[in-house]
Amino acid sequence: MEINKLISERYSPRAFSDQPITEDQIKLILKAASLAASSYNEQPWRFVYALKENQEAFSRVFSCIMDFNHDWAKHAPALIVCVVKDNLSLNDKPNIHAWHDMGLAVGNLSLQALSMGIYVRQMGGFDSEIARTQLSIPKGYTPISVIALGYIGDINNLPVYLQERENSPKQVKPLEEVIFEGTWK
Ligand SMILES: Cc1cc2nc3c(=O)[nH]c(=O)nc-3n(C[C@H](O)[C@H](O)[C@H](O)COP(=O)(O)O)c2cc1C
Repeated sequence: MEINKLISERYSPRAFSDQPITEDQIKLILKAASLAASSYNEQPWRFVYALKENQEAFSRVFSCIMDFNHDWAKHAPALIVCVVKDNLSLNDKPNIHAWHDMGLAVGNLSLQALSMGIYVRQMGGFDSEIARTQLSIPKGYTPISVIALGYIGDINNLPVYLQERENSPKQVKPLEEVIFEGTWK
């Protein structure tokens, strides 16, 4: 028994190369996202993407990202803004699983991308209100994260403080800390 390699080898790099991502590739990656399970099959995920070759769109999305993510995110060839639909279509009540379901979709997206040699780093460090305005996101939808994606680049192109973070080992909580048999212990 072993963990699937796509799962065990996944990590979130900050060093991206300038190799572009094509429209077809990003659409395939987003198709994988859209195949996720969701509560009431609501599929509450929406994605606004920008490829670097479309400078205007890329700058618009980049302007939503907080400063502390700029030094590395500027190298990514593609950005995706993840937006959830707040209410269920069924009854217009709050969809309390919308963020959960977006997580499933982004999980699919990450692994599909990795199967194509493309890595993902997600950002909570962005301004949701700026995203709403800049990207014309309507009422009833909430931008919740931005994803940078691309091929692995040269770590030496990052500032030294980020090179140090890139070189630090992955921290994973021991399983005993996060799983309980039968009841919480
Ligand atoms: C919802 C979410 C928000 C994140 N926000 C940021 C961020 O703003 N800046 C950043 O550099 N990394 C961010 N990360 C990346 C995490 O720090 C990273 O996934 C975590 O340290 C685990 O590392 P790994 O993905 O390489 O296993 C975010 C990840 C997630 C899932």
